[in-house]
Amino acid sequence: AVTAIRAGRLVDVVAGKVLADQVILVSGERILSVGPAAGAVVPAGARIVDLSGATVLPGLVDAHVHLTGDPTLHGYQSLGVSDIRAAMYGAHAAQVTLAAGFTTVRNVGAGGFGDVALRDAIDAGELPGPRMRVAGYALGIKGGHCDNNLLPNDFHYAEQGVADGPWQARAKVREMAKYGADTIKICASGGVLSKGDEAGAQQYTLEEMQAIVEEAHKLGRRVAAHAHGASSIRDAILAGVDSVEHASLIDDEGIRLARQKGTYLVMDIYNDDYILQEGAKVGMLPESLEKERKVGQVQRDNFRKAWQAGVKMAFGTDAGVYPHGDNARQFRYMVQYGMTPMQAIRAATIDGADLLGWKDRIGSVSAGKFADLIAVRGDPLADPAELTRVRFVMKGGTVVKDADAR
Ligand code: ARG
Repeated sequence: AVTAIRAGRLVDVVAGKVLADQVILVSGERILSVGPAAGAVVPAGARIVDLSGATVLPGLVDAHVHLTGDPTLHGYQSLGVSDIRAAMYGAHAAQVTLAAGFTTVRNVGAGGFGDVALRDAIDAGELPGPRMRVAGYALGIKGGHCDNNLLPNDFHYAEQGVADGPWQARAKVREMAKYGADTIKICASGGVLSKGDEAGAQQYTLEEMQAIVEEAHKLGRRVAAHAHGASSIRDAILAGVDSVEHASLIDDEGIRLARQKGTYLVMDIYNDDYILQEGAKVGMLPESLEKERKVGQVQRDNFRKAWQAGVKMAFGTDAGVYPHGDNARQFRYMVQYGMTPMQAIRAATIDGADLLGWKDRIGSVSAGKFADLIAVRGDPLADPAELTRVRFVMKGGTVVKDADAR
C-alpha cells in the first residue's frame, strides 16, 4: 500500500531550502519518491495524507538524551529508583519524545541496560518510541561524574560503568558491546549533577581515552565524551572521540582541534534554564546549582564561538535532566546563539543522522530513507519555536500522531 503525502512546504535539509507543494510517496517503511505536486503520479488507491497547509520536515534527531531519567527525581531522590523502574519510566519517556517529533535519539547512558531493552522493544513494535542508538552504562573513573558518589563508604556502592586504567576501560567497552550497546559513552570530565567533583576538571586521562576509542572503533562503535573542561575536551578530541558532549568551557585550541579532526560538538544549551529554575525543587544538590551558575552562560557563549569558527554541531539536549518532550525548546537558543533556523534544523536532522552513523537511513526526506517525518502549522524558519508544536508525526511509514496540522 502506498501513502501520498501532500506537503504545502517541505524543508529540504540537504539543499538548505524550502520547497513548495510537494508530494512524498511512501511505501511500507520507506520513502519511494519526493517531487513537485504538479505532475506527481499518485498510484490509484493510494492513501492520501493532506498536509498542504503545513510545513513538513524530516523527523528530528536528539543526539543526547537519557530516556530512563526522570527529571523530577534528582539527587538523593534518585537513589530510590531501581533500574527496572527506570526502564518502565523510559517506556513512557520514549512515547512522549516520539510525539514531540523526535523520531530518533541517541541515549547516552542508562542503568541495567534499560536503554538496550527499550531500543529492542521499540524495534520489535511492542512500544511506541523513537529509533535509538544506545550506550548501556556510561564509562568513567571511580568517584567521577559517571560514578555515583551520593552514598558513604558503608554502602560500597559504585556505578557499573566505573573502569579505571586503560585495560579496565577496554574491558568495559567490550562488556558494553557484548550486552548490546551500539555507542560508547564516557566521562572525560566532572559534571554539574554529580557530587564532589568539578565540572571543569579532567577525569579520564588521554591514555585511558585512547584505549577506549581504539577498542570501540575496532568493535564498530562510536564514542561520545561528556566533557565540560578545556583540557578534557582537548584530550578527548586527540584520543579520537566522535563527539564531545556539553563542551561548556571549550577554548581556542579545542575549537581548532574539533575543526581539524571533524569532531562533533553536542551542546545542551537549553538545560541551564531548567536546572536553575527547577533544580532545587527536584532534588538537585546545592553544589550542582552552584556549578551550573559557573558553566551555563559560558557554554552558550562558547556555542556561538565554536559555531562561528566552523565546528560541526549536532542537536542534543540532555532530556531526562529536564522533561522529555521539551527537547525542541533548545532550537530557540541555538538561533539566539548564532545559528540560522535552517542550520539549527540541519543540526537536528541530517547532521544528527551523520553523527549517529545513520545518514543512509534517516535525517532527510529522501527516496530510500525511512519515512520519518513531522509537520508543523507555522513556519519554523521564521520562528524555530514552532518546532515545540509538532502536530503530525510519521515514523517508518506509520502515522503516530495526527493533531490536525492542516
Ligand atoms: N548532565 C550534565 C552534567 O551534569 C548537565 C549539564 C547541564 N548544564 C549545562 N549548562 N548544559 O554535567
